[in-house]
Amino acid sequence: MKALVARSYGPVEDLVIADIPKPAPGPGQLLVRTEASALNAIDLALVTGGVKDHLPIQHPFVPGLDVTGVVEAVGEGVSRFTVGDRILAWNGVPSGGLAEYALVQDAHSAALRPATLGLAESAALPTAGLTAAALIDEAKLQAGENVLVVGASGGVGSFTVQLAKQTGAKVLATGRADEEDLLRRLGADTTVDYKTSDVTAEALRWAPGGVGVVIDLAQAGPALAGSAAAARPGGRLISPLGGPAAFDRGVTAIYTGTRTPEGRLEALAAQAAEGRLHVEISARYSFADAPQALADYAHKHLPGKVVITF
Ligand SMILES: NC(=O)c1ccc[n+]([C@@H]2O[C@H](COP(=O)([O-])OP(=O)(O)OC[C@H]3O[C@@H](n4cnc5c(N)ncnc54)[C@H](OP(=O)(O)O)[C@@H]3O)[C@@H](O)[C@H]2O)c1
Repeated sequence: MKALVARSYGPVEDLVIADIPKPAPGPGQLLVRTEASALNAIDLALVTGGVKDHLPIQHPFVPGLDVTGVVEAVGEGVSRFTVGDRILAWNGVPSGGLAEYALVQDAHSAALRPATLGLAESAALPTAGLTAAALIDEAKLQAGENVLVVGASGGVGSFTVQLAKQTGAKVLATGRADEEDLLRRLGADTTVDYKTSDVTAEALRWAPGGVGVVIDLAQAGPALAGSAAAARPGGRLISPLGGPAAFDRGVTAIYTGTRTPEGRLEALAAQAAEGRLHVEISARYSFADAPQALADYAHKHLPGKVVITF
């Protein structure tokens, strides 16, 4: 089968489409004929070796955490799906979605694809949607509470803004000047151009005394102190990256990643199929152009999700 392959750690420009053996599903796994996949920030970090100390990969490595397609074979013990089912799935670090056939590592991370959900939307949803939902779980937003979402126009951010809005919270979203319309369509009450404005100062102007919750999708480590300063005393900072456990004025931090509680992916897919959750896709490529897609994703500004169809 054809796959996008990294033969060693290095720049994304080294990725090539190559022939590799078609995998066979082991216990609990699904083999899927891939119809579409989507890119995520972690693909770049895995391929380049940026996270090799704590998330090492085996080469040849096929990137692609998200996959949607048709179940071709099921491994021992899989009872939730049968051959011919159309599914979407989150594969996590083992990845493999950018190949004609992908192993879904854990059938529990997959959901049936609603008939009315488009291919590209199905591919774009799993990693970013599940991560946004995990962040919103931790945020425990109250109706009317102010939340600052930093990195709001990205893959995770575009879902986070919508899920925050669904709780009844008031959302201040950061993006570039040309993303204001997008952020408002997603549900932002107010936007800040992070390229030209001081986000913390703007947030404090919007919510004197500070916002209840900051969800920062763009920064890690000590740099988070800047956005934590936009929280009220005793407020919360939520991030999918890492950083200090607490900040000045009793602001506490919660760090969480993609999670797949039972029924979550089904629920997100249903929301998207019914038009209650918008899937923002800024670029689409065919699999033949997958090397270019990775290079563009690494170097260009592309809001929302980037999808590759087979
Ligand atoms: N722990 C986990 O399980 C997990 C899961 C998913 C994602 N993540 C991490 O979460 C982060 C977000 O993921 P993603 O898929 O949404 O990435 P993404 O699509 O690249 O989005 C990141 C967004 O942050 C914006 N940004 C960059 N620097 C900024 C700054 N200084 N201030 C404000 N905004 C800034 C970017 O804007 P521009 O386009 O203008 O640069 C972009 O809109 C990534 O670091 C990813 O690795 C972690």
